[in-house]
Amino acid sequence: MSNFPKNFLWGGATAADQYEGAYDLDGKSLSASDILPLSGNGRKWALDHPLEAAKKNYGFYPAREGIDGYHHWEEDLELFHEMGFNVYRMSVSWPRVFPEAGMEKANEAGLKYYDKVINKARELGMDIIMTIDHFDTPFWATDEFNGWTDRRMIDEYLKLARTLFTRYKNQVKYWITFNEINALLNYPLFAGGIDISRCSNPLQARYQAAHNQLVASAKAVIMGHEINPDFKIGSMIAGVVNYPNSPYPEDALEAQETTRKSYFFPDVQARGYYPLYAKRFFKDNNIHLDIEDGDLEALKKGTVDFVSFSYYSSSDVSTDPRIKAKKTAGNFSSASSHNDGGTVTWDAENTVINPYLESSSWGWAIDPIGLRYLLNDIYDRYQKPVMVVENGLGEHDALTQDGKVHDDYRIKYMRDHIKQMGLAIHDGVECWGYTMWGPIDIIANSTGEMSKRYGFIYVDRDDHGNGTNKRIKKDSFDWYKKVIASNGENL
Ligand code: BG6
Repeated sequence: MSNFPKNFLWGGATAADQYEGAYDLDGKSLSASDILPLSGNGRKWALDHPLEAAKKNYGFYPAREGIDGYHHWEEDLELFHEMGFNVYRMSVSWPRVFPEAGMEKANEAGLKYYDKVINKARELGMDIIMTIDHFDTPFWATDEFNGWTDRRMIDEYLKLARTLFTRYKNQVKYWITFNEINALLNYPLFAGGIDISRCSNPLQARYQAAHNQLVASAKAVIMGHEINPDFKIGSMIAGVVNYPNSPYPEDALEAQETTRKSYFFPDVQARGYYPLYAKRFFKDNNIHLDIEDGDLEALKKGTVDFVSFSYYSSSDVSTDPRIKAKKTAGNFSSASSHNDGGTVTWDAENTVINPYLESSSWGWAIDPIGLRYLLNDIYDRYQKPVMVVENGLGEHDALTQDGKVHDDYRIKYMRDHIKQMGLAIHDGVECWGYTMWGPIDIIANSTGEMSKRYGFIYVDRDDHGNGTNKRIKKDSFDWYKKVIASNGENL
C-alpha cells in the first residue's frame, strides 16, 4: 500500500535563470546571475563583488544561455507530461517582467512567454507552483539600491507579485514568495541582489535585507489572498538537518544554534512574529533593524499557508577544533562561505564530514533518512502542510555508445529519498507534494556548470555552452514515470 495520499502532487522544479537563457530577448534586462562567470573564473569573487564584476568581460556567461528553455519549453513540458507530472514548479525572471526599476507597467513581451508556458502546462494537466523570486534579482536592484538592504525593494517586489497574482489568478494555485529565503545569509547576491563588499556592516545588512524580505513576503501573502482567497502561498527554505557530531552537549547546542539561523525565516513567516532567540541574537550582535510602522502588523497578518523546502543533504556539526578541520561541502547550512577553488562550495563554519554517510561527486552528503527527519521536524514546528520542492542528485552523467544515459546512481538516490518521504507521511506529516530538482539538466546555481546534472532528461550541452541542446531521456526517466503512475508504490 502506498503511503502517499491520492491527490499527491508529483513533479519537478526549475528556475528561470538556470533554464530559460534568452537573456536579452523581448526586453529582458540582466539579472544578478547574468553577470557571473563559470566557476573557476573567480565566480565566488564575483558573487561578493558584483558591481566590479559587471565591468569585466568574462566572455562566457552560463546563465545568459541556460538550456535555451525559452525556445524549448513546449518540448520540455511534453516530456514532463510523459513522465506523468501533475505539478510543475517554475519561477519567473523578474528582470524579464520588470526590466527597469520604478516601471509602472510590466513588460508585456516578457509576460507573453509565461502565458504560453502556464497555459500549456495547465492544458497538460499540471498544477503550477510559482516561485515569485527564485534567485533572480534584477541587476538594476544591485546597481540602484544595493538590493534588499533598501526597503524600496518591498514595493518593487509587490509590483511583481501583484502582476503575477492578477494575471494568473485562475491558473496558478500554489505560490512561493522567495526561493530558499534563508540563503540571504550565505548568498547575499543571489538571494538579495546585494553587493556585500559595499556594506560597512555585512551582518546588519543581511538581517535588514531579511526584515525587508519578510515584510514583502507577508504583504504578498495578504495581497494574494485578497486577489484569490483560494491561493495557497508558502515559504521556502534550504532545508537544514544539523546533527551534533557527538553527544557532547556543546555540539548539540551548536547544532541547534546553527539550525535556528535557517528556521528564523519560516519562524517569522509561519508564526507571524520574531522569535525571542532572534531578538537576543540581534542584541548580542548589535543589529538594529529599521522596522517601520505597520511592518509587525503585516508579519502577523501575512502568515503562510504551507512551509516548503529543498533537501539535498544533511550536515554534521562539531565544536571540537580537531574535528572542525574536516570541513564538508554542501548546500549551505550556516552563515559563512569559502573561497572559489575551482568550484564554489558553500560550507558552514562548523559543519564537518559525517563518517556514516557517502557523498556525491560534489561532496554533498547523501542522507535519505535526513529527509524523513526534516519533514517531521518542520511539521512538528509549524503544524502546517509541507512540501518538498527540491531534492535530487547532481552528478556527472555520460552518454554511452548506445546514445543513452544509464543513471542507476540517480535512481538509487531518488528511490531512497522518496521512500523516506513516504515513511514521514506514515509518521503523520501532512505533505502535499514533491517536486524533485531539475527534471531536465539545467545549469548549476552554485557553480554555473552544466556538468552537474540532476535531470531525468539529458541536455546535450557542456560547461562552455557547446552542444545542440538536444533532449535525451535517461534511464531514470522511465523509472520516475513508474513511480508517479503507482503513486509512489513502485519504487
Ligand atoms: C538550491 C537552489 O539551492 O539548490 C537551486 O534553489 C539549485 O536553484 C539547487 O540549483 C542545487 O544546487 P546546484 O548548485 O547544484 O545547482
